[in-house]
Amino acid sequence: MRILSGTQPSGDLHLGNYFGAIQQYIELQQAHEALYFIADYHSMNTVRDATERRRLCDAVALDYLACGLDPERAILFRQSDVPEVCELAWLLSTVTPMGLLERAHAYKDRIAHGQPADHGLFAYPVLMAADILLYHADLVPVGQDQKQHIEMTRDIAQRFNHTYGQEVLKIPEPYIPEALAIVPGTDGRKMSKSYGNSLPMFATDKQLKKAVMGIVTDSTPVEDPKDTSSTVFQLWALFADAPEKEAYFEKARAGGVGYGDVKKDLLGRLLDYFGPLRARRAELESKPGTVEEVLQDGARRARELGAPVLAAARDAAGLGPTR
Ligand code: TRP
Repeated sequence: MRILSGTQPSGDLHLGNYFGAIQQYIELQQAHEALYFIADYHSMNTVRDATERRRLCDAVALDYLACGLDPERAILFRQSDVPEVCELAWLLSTVTPMGLLERAHAYKDRIAHGQPADHGLFAYPVLMAADILLYHADLVPVGQDQKQHIEMTRDIAQRFNHTYGQEVLKIPEPYIPEALAIVPGTDGRKMSKSYGNSLPMFATDKQLKKAVMGIVTDSTPVEDPKDTSSTVFQLWALFADAPEKEAYFEKARAGGVGYGDVKKDLLGRLLDYFGPLRARRAELESKPGTVEEVLQDGARRARELGAPVLAAARDAAGLGPTR
């Protein structure tokens, strides 16, 4: 089974990204062949500054490695280091109906807001299909918001295979991990960078302390029973095992547990949990050459997997000399 997923470089990871996605994605490396790439071509639709793109891409590589991606097992690479993906995207675009792309959420939202769209945004699902199909991926772990893109990928692959009468492209399946953890933000809404309610994984102790102390709670007095479905308890529970959680929640429901104490304990657990990851990230950051080596090696391995697939697609379509 071959797993593949891409990440748009978009800045600081938070607990929602980690417990909702990255942790599970990285775990897949234990049992499967896994490819993870940094979607720098895709980022061109939004990030328009070269220095910023490089900075954001380096940050994704550091994040994944710090979170436990093992380059001996999984392949980590920059999308644009395997430019063959652009050629496959062209082949696919010739069998992709306009109507299919017009239904894509990202494009539709842009138009609905009366904003202009570039061809890159419109064609985004085709490049994403190429990302997946180039490597014959079986399973694509993504968030719910990407499900439509995987369905489009399947559709596009089937059209290509059908058009040229050969099963050259493998039809992938989406893998949307059961939301193991719905991670609330400090204000109780879903944790999201755009809501400004996130607990960043790699912030300093001081920044984390400020964010944790800022978690919104109600005014229930210390001695009164607490609602353990509230934000602060749900965040705390991310760092506790089941028996511990049960005991603590029972105590809180009986009264006598103050929110201040929960926050203090949460902060301690958070720092303990992410401390080693932060240390690993800092160490890697001090050795940019090592990270670049990982990416170069990843690109080489990815390319080895992708080249025969592109060659087969070209051949099926009658590109290049007769064989
Ligand atoms: N579109 C994905 C996102 O925004 C990123 C992505 C690009 C991706 N190509 C991919 C994810 C291929 C999975 C497979 O999150």
